[in-house]
Amino acid sequence: MNLRNHSDISNNKINYSENENDKVKVLFFGKNNKLVVHPDARISGTTIRFDCDDGICTIGNNSFNGFIRVGQGCNVVIGDNVTCTNGCYISTAENTSVTIGCDCMFASGNEIRTDDGHPIFDIVSGKRINPSRSIIIGEHVWLAAKSIILSGSSIGNGSVIGLGSIVKGVIPNNCIAAGIPAKVIKKNIAWERPHLTLAKPFLKPDSSFVTKSKYWDLTIEEESVIIKKNSIVSRFVSLFKRVKTQ
Ligand SMILES: CC(C)(COP(=O)(O)OP(=O)(O)OC[C@H]1O[C@@H](n2cnc3c(N)ncnc32)[C@H](O)[C@@H]1OP(=O)(O)O)[C@@H](O)C(=O)NCCC(=O)NCCS
Repeated sequence: MNLRNHSDISNNKINYSENENDKVKVLFFGKNNKLVVHPDARISGTTIRFDCDDGICTIGNNSFNGFIRVGQGCNVVIGDNVTCTNGCYISTAENTSVTIGCDCMFASGNEIRTDDGHPIFDIVSGKRINPSRSIIIGEHVWLAAKSIILSGSSIGNGSVIGLGSIVKGVIPNNCIAAGIPAKVIKKNIAWERPHLTLAKPFLKPDSSFVTKSKYWDLTIEEESVIIKKNSIVSRFVSLFKRVKTQ
């Protein structure tokens, strides 16, 4: 169905107070799922698919574009002012969550996966060796084109993930991480949104040529993600906890 306010006999709900949006498709295959979309969100070209039961997806005032798979008992939160150049793919399964902080900038062909899609077992013990694990992306994180974030990863506020990199692990704040697997290549960096060719001045040799955001912090190695108290994402996370207990 198109994105619109909705409730059905399987207790699947969409909270969206605006007029129907035919650029966003929502698919419910299970029960007790909930989609909450900010009334001013500018999402388009997006499919949100609830494959199982008890999933929640919360989309803030942003312009997300892509595909979101919400698995059993999973939670996807995308904060305000997140932008996507083209087609970000998000997959969750098995009670995991993807939390994306405010003001993140996603390029083209990004993937964020808390699960591997299929189970792998140890032959001797029979135990699962690839459990699904949650992902936290902090605020003001730039995922360069074709970078991929795998299960159990976290990225601190203000960091940049290089083109074609695969993150599997913990990346601190205000750094550049690149490669496969992604490693920190530069610390104590800050990035800003103004495009090099689309925003004047067309030469930006130092920080006096941009307006500084609030994400100019030195890298703290031990601290991967700080979701500030009362930030939009922390409010979504508490909302998620409340909804889960209802
Ligand atoms: C991540 C990035 C911003 C880093 O740029 P930078 O700070 O100028 O990096 P440097 O060129 O100084 O490279 C530093 C080291 O990291 C390596 N490196 C840089 N980018 C890399 C990448 N994407 N993957 C693997 N290694 C990378 C370099 O080879 C170099 O290694 P060395 O020290 O062993 O020689 C840049 O390489 C990048 O990925 N740009 C693409 C941005 C993009 O996708 N834009 C699309 C519009 S949003």
